[in-house]
Amino acid sequence: MLKGKEIVLGVTGGIAAYKAVELLRLLTKAGANVHVIMTRSAEEFVTPLTFQTLSMNPVSTSLFNLISEREIGHISLADRADLFIIAPATANFVGKIAGGIADDMLTTTVMATKAPVLIAPAMNVNMYTNPSYKENEARLKERGYQFVEPAKGLLACGWEGEGKLQEPQVIFEEVVAALTPKDLAGESFLVTAGPTREEIDPVRFVSNHSSGKMGYAMARAARRRGAAVVLVTGPTCLAAPWGVETVAVESAREMLEVVLAKAGASTIIIKAAAVADYRPQQRAVEKIKKTDAPLVLELVKNPDILGELGKFKGERLLVGFAAETGSLLENAAKKLTEKNLDMVVANDISQEGAGFNVDTNIVKLLFRDGSLEELPLMGKDELADVILDRVAALRQRLAASR
Ligand code: PMT
Repeated sequence: MLKGKEIVLGVTGGIAAYKAVELLRLLTKAGANVHVIMTRSAEEFVTPLTFQTLSMNPVSTSLFNLISEREIGHISLADRADLFIIAPATANFVGKIAGGIADDMLTTTVMATKAPVLIAPAMNVNMYTNPSYKENEARLKERGYQFVEPAKGLLACGWEGEGKLQEPQVIFEEVVAALTPKDLAGESFLVTAGPTREEIDPVRFVSNHSSGKMGYAMARAARRRGAAVVLVTGPTCLAAPWGVETVAVESAREMLEVVLAKAGASTIIIKAAAVADYRPQQRAVEKIKKTDAPLVLELVKNPDILGELGKFKGERLLVGFAAETGSLLENAAKKLTEKNLDMVVANDISQEGAGFNVDTNIVKLLFRDGSLEELPLMGKDELADVILDRVAALRQRLAASR
């Protein structure tokens, strides 16, 4: 995702500096080459050795260290970087940059770069709301610096309020978004994900193995590419994607209700959810007691959400998924036509590394014009971007034909 990207991670002196270690791990795992610059105060909280070991690059700590300047060079780092992320950023750092003060390796390199700079502040709530800090922040925003706003919560100083460094996963998400071209800006996505649960009684339900990973990857990718995204999700263990309006539902009928309410405002709908086709005809009010006799459950058909959407599709793009264990192409093509789709993502879930509850998928893309594209095994995040590339091309073709 960040392969080939040169990122400078600036760490200033605050208790949240330990979170920068996790952020570094996320950035390197995504393929970025990360150069860490620490201020003198940051070294009081975390050692340069930790960052050096994890980044596999020398860590810059001083402007006046001849070896470090020869090996790294603040101007060369400033020129080479695709992006700067300062996390945590203290009030002192924000004030210095706003005032044009460059008195250490980090401030000097930040002032010298033309790359986008993201600042993730962390400080006491009273410092964060102090008019001096707010003025400095506003000044930097005006000049194009981007901020990852801090979270509210219990702060290290004992106060409760705004000023807590955002979670590393959120900062990582903002870094990826800042480096992603906004080719889907102006689009409104409605994405569904996860399984549905159809209750048998207060403790049991009918469901399937969907983890939500595919649908969440679609929602994250669309948001990174500039779209407004609503995610309607069945029960999963995943954290709600940052910057995405997430609505949690349980059953197919609940999903239908939310999807129909949200569909009107959407321009592109992607249905990655594994909706239960059937539900128990009756939900027992009390827990069903075990007896020696066999238990027969009568199941009735659930509404076909995608089928309903297909009826009033209009100019919207409709993308469905098909999870099959046999006759993949025939079954997927049938869904494409019957549900009035523009594209269907067909996964043969009998293949290893494809379908439910894994981080990868193997799919074939079928289009309304009869064309077919076979994709190799790839991560669900990467696949989400490929699907969105095709969606963007379909949108362009549609716009050109109007
Ligand atoms: O969540 P993961 O663990 O990451 O797994 C990903 C996935 C396997 C769930 C995903 O890649 C996938 O294939 N999702 C669709 C699964 C499915 O229910 O396929 P289907 O062939 O039964 O349904 C076809 C399409 O109709 C789907 O877009 C489905 O959302 C939709 N549908 C189905 C039934 C129904 N009652 N209403 C629907 O809208």
